[in-house]
Amino acid sequence: TGAVALDGGFLNTASCSSAITFIDGDEGILRYRGYPIEQLAAQSTFSEVSYLLIYGHLPSAIELSDFENNVKRHTMLHEDLRRFFDGFPRDAHPMPVLSSAVSALSTFYQDSLDPFDKEQVEISTIRLLAKVPTIAAYAYKKSVGQPYLYPDNKLSLNDNFLRMTFGVPAEDYEVDPVLAKALDLLLILHADHEQNCSTSTVRLVGSSHANLFASVSAGINALFGPLHGGANQAVLEMLTNIHRSGGGVNTFIRQVKNREDGVKLMGFGHRVYKNYDPRATIIKNAAHEVFETLGINDPLLDIALRLEEVALADDFFISRKLYPNVDFYTGLIYKAMGFPTRMFTVMFALGRLPGWIAQWREMIEDPTTKIGRPRQVYVGEPQRSYIPLDAR
Ligand code: CMC
Repeated sequence: TGAVALDGGFLNTASCSSAITFIDGDEGILRYRGYPIEQLAAQSTFSEVSYLLIYGHLPSAIELSDFENNVKRHTMLHEDLRRFFDGFPRDAHPMPVLSSAVSALSTFYQDSLDPFDKEQVEISTIRLLAKVPTIAAYAYKKSVGQPYLYPDNKLSLNDNFLRMTFGVPAEDYEVDPVLAKALDLLLILHADHEQNCSTSTVRLVGSSHANLFASVSAGINALFGPLHGGANQAVLEMLTNIHRSGGGVNTFIRQVKNREDGVKLMGFGHRVYKNYDPRATIIKNAAHEVFETLGINDPLLDIALRLEEVALADDFFISRKLYPNVDFYTGLIYKAMGFPTRMFTVMFALGRLPGWIAQWREMIEDPTTKIGRPRQVYVGEPQRSYIPLDAR
């Protein structure tokens, strides 16, 4: 096999052309459809960014309100789907609950599964954007044993999600504008990131002409892993452990450098960014703002800041170009918002949803797309003869 160069992990393999997201990992640049992430984060909304990613242009006021109203009309779950949640164990992690429920959408909407029927793809797109937040809120409700709330479509999509998550029946739920703004920002920053592990999964599954729900459900499962979306949960667990063991940042960094028990500095490093992740810069500032406005003093933020400071002054991290990534500070904001650690990756999925949809649609509409089918280098036994059971 010496002559064959493998590209395990696809470090150097482009799998498609795409007009959706541009990343320059050396310069720390991220753009959606040409618009710099910094401008979108400061001026846009998640609804608008979702529209931009999926349809390719910033919507006019009418296009945006039509889009939002259309999504709002589909936020409710079929009662039979709502009952799904009763069947999961109370301590179920909400990520597999989310992917199972999204997978189940293929059974409820059998009339709209044809990937090559534009109207069917459109209605599936809207259904996903509308129902995934409801599913996410119900996954949370299940985990805390509270009753499920039906969507209230007088509210904005984000406020509706926050109410379905944190509200209880017969009590008014006032959405804190600071939290609503922080939520919108986090969703914008997660909305797409070109051919990452979960998006590549969505495209690969879709390349077999599997429907949009099935493909997105597979993407959610890929996102669950701690090296990908699951890193935000892993970061908070890491910070909590450091805090519990006395807050010794230097001891922890030493463990990482000595690779004790394979421990990594979670929320650091990225396959593409060999510079500060531009999303991490924005989130770090937002974390300060949220903490200040809400008057929160979380010792875990101080530990995160110290970790960053120590790591970025250490040759181990400098020589490997390891910088904070998007997941390093997000968990602290989700925690301040009241989300339990296990919901963090679900929040990532809510943000990434329009990106998955946009990428799946681009893949399906591209006439040059072929079924994804990598080759391998066989390293097993050469041909040998079968030996009957009684002769072995
Ligand atoms: N802590 C300690 N060492 C690290 C880390 C880290 N977080 N990340 C990479 N390294 C080391 C790695 O051991 C390797 O060292 P050496 O060359 O001596 O063997 C070198 O840096 C290069 O890393 P790699 O694992 O070959 O890089 P990769 O591109 O295959 O992996 C990564 C990228 C993100 C999986 C990895 O950096 C990592 O595991 N980070 C921690 C998990 C994390 O924060 N993931 C979130 C990524 S951003 C959002 C998302 O994708 O969901």
